[in-house]
Amino acid sequence: MSLSTSPVLGNLALSRKEDWKAFAEAPRRSRPELLTRTQLKALSEEARSDYDRQRRQWHANLGPIKTPQLAELHEDLWDIVDSNVQDGDKAKGAVAVDAFPGLGKTTSVLAFAREFHQREIAEQGAFTAAGHERLPVCRVGLTGNTGMKDLNRSLLEFFGHPGRNRGTTTQFGQRALDCVLSCEVRLLALDDLHFLKWRQSSGIEVSNHLKWIANEFPVTLLMIGVGLADKGLFSEGTTSGGSVLAQTGRRTTRLGMRPFTIKNEAGRREWRQMLLALEKRMVLADKDPGMLADDLSDYLFARSTGHIGSLMTLINRGCQRAVRTGAERLDRDLLDGVKNDEAAEAARRELEAALEKRRLTSRPRSSRRKAA
Ligand SMILES: Nc1ncnc2c1ncn2[C@@H]1O[C@H](COP(=O)(O)OP(=O)(O)O)[C@@H](O)[C@H]1O
Ligand SMILES: [Mg+2]
Repeated sequence: MSLSTSPVLGNLALSRKEDWKAFAEAPRRSRPELLTRTQLKALSEEARSDYDRQRRQWHANLGPIKTPQLAELHEDLWDIVDSNVQDGDKAKGAVAVDAFPGLGKTTSVLAFAREFHQREIAEQGAFTAAGHERLPVCRVGLTGNTGMKDLNRSLLEFFGHPGRNRGTTTQFGQRALDCVLSCEVRLLALDDLHFLKWRQSSGIEVSNHLKWIANEFPVTLLMIGVGLADKGLFSEGTTSGGSVLAQTGRRTTRLGMRPFTIKNEAGRREWRQMLLALEKRMVLADKDPGMLADDLSDYLFARSTGHIGSLMTLINRGCQRAVRTGAERLDRDLLDGVKNDEAAEAARRELEAALEKRRLTSRPRSSRRKAA
């Protein structure tokens, strides 16, 4: 089992190249074996606690699952990244993944960046012709109220550049560019870009800065965040610096991520596929086929309102509880005791009322015959 490498991943913040490489190159976690109740009982105390520890880690990291949302985003990203291999003097298209929190932006982008990293290293080798470490992806996550200088510094942090502590914004920017060039970075992902200080006065400054990166860095710039469109990243002429903003907008392709919906048959089928995929991954002795997809479909939809983040939180916590208490399966009673995030809880009550009156269902027609 590759578990020996997995636990370390828990400590990674992915803000340095070493962490990023460890993440991108780690083998996939392997699923602990599914044991029956009888087999569970037969385990020694030591073996049992080891097994449960493995299951805790597994259930806490059940993903990424290849949802339609993730697959669509990946297709679009491959199109854009692969069409950006023109020669260095042509400015490359940028991408903005813009959607509400908890819809899987970070997860999907990381999964893509990981595949991209692996493909590039496999094709071109771990070192550049000049003998530098090849880093196809540079990825930084922003935190509260980041200014332009902090952004540049975080790029230097990623590369472990010795000049990351002293200098001006411009110097930091130049050093970051040097790193990007020598490591032959092809994809620059800036996650949680909404944290960039974006006040009216500095909106143009931000926009200019991103444009500078898009123009000078020979990379596909991948911006990820919430409400980026509202901040004027794509719009034209919303401020006095309209022309500047317009230029950022024109070369930026905006990609969204949608929640699951149950308004039509296609949506209900996607939801069911998601639940079936989750069922298959769970390592609980008393699980049975249909435990989620048949018995808990409406319930899980109401509690998550189709948001993958809320769904995964609920499933993760539910599985932890099922292992800890010995329930070894998920049902309404157990999940009722599990807390979810506040936004999901608020939306839940309204939706549950509709589902109970049968005005709504989360289940596709083909699976309803089996309903209780
Ligand atoms: N494709 C997926 N498979 C499994 N879990 C996912 C998937 N996408 C998102 N999640 C879960 O949902 C949560 C929120 O996702 P995240 O990528 O952080 O969303 P965002 O960046 O849009 O806020 C994460 O904790 C992650 O575990
Ligand atoms: Mg995120």
